[in-house]
Amino acid sequence: MEKFNITANFTVFNSNKELPKQDQELLLKAIEARKNAYAPYSNFSVGASLLLENGTIILGNNQENAAYPSGMCAERVAIWNAASQHPKLKILKIFISASSSKKLVDQPVSPCGACRQTLVEYEINQSKNIEIYFTGETGKIIKSNTIKDLLPLTFDNSLL
Ligand code: THU
Repeated sequence: MEKFNITANFTVFNSNKELPKQDQELLLKAIEARKNAYAPYSNFSVGASLLLENGTIILGNNQENAAYPSGMCAERVAIWNAASQHPKLKILKIFISASSSKKLVDQPVSPCGACRQTLVEYEINQSKNIEIYFTGETGKIIKSNTIKDLLPLTFDNSLL
């Protein structure tokens, strides 16, 4: 028997003001996208902005449905939006912002498992890390340099 440890690295920013200017703008875009979320059932709105290698910014937000499982998370709406329109361009960064009309979301909201799995697919295919920044409505912003820090022991197509 043997044991092993996995270390994940994160950077924490206390507010938007600690981010470089371009990243501040990307976070504002995620907030803007969040405000257009369609979340009448959970009242939990999420917005995502992606920066592509040519400078294009792609947005997404969660889209719910009366048949609950038919809804989709903001991150995957944004990633698939990017992949469908710009399949050859690498994704450099994703910014995620979440809020609720039921309570103040004052801590960083990290992407759900399915969105992590989706991000891994694109990160591996493009052979370049995707930076992930996530936050709530207020409070700290957490940055991860690669989706692998959020999803260690990844299942990916090399196993198939
Ligand atoms: N949601 C996202 O958009 N992204 C996540 O990573 C977590 C959850 C959405 C899905 C659903 O519309 C609402 O938040 C509540 O789960």
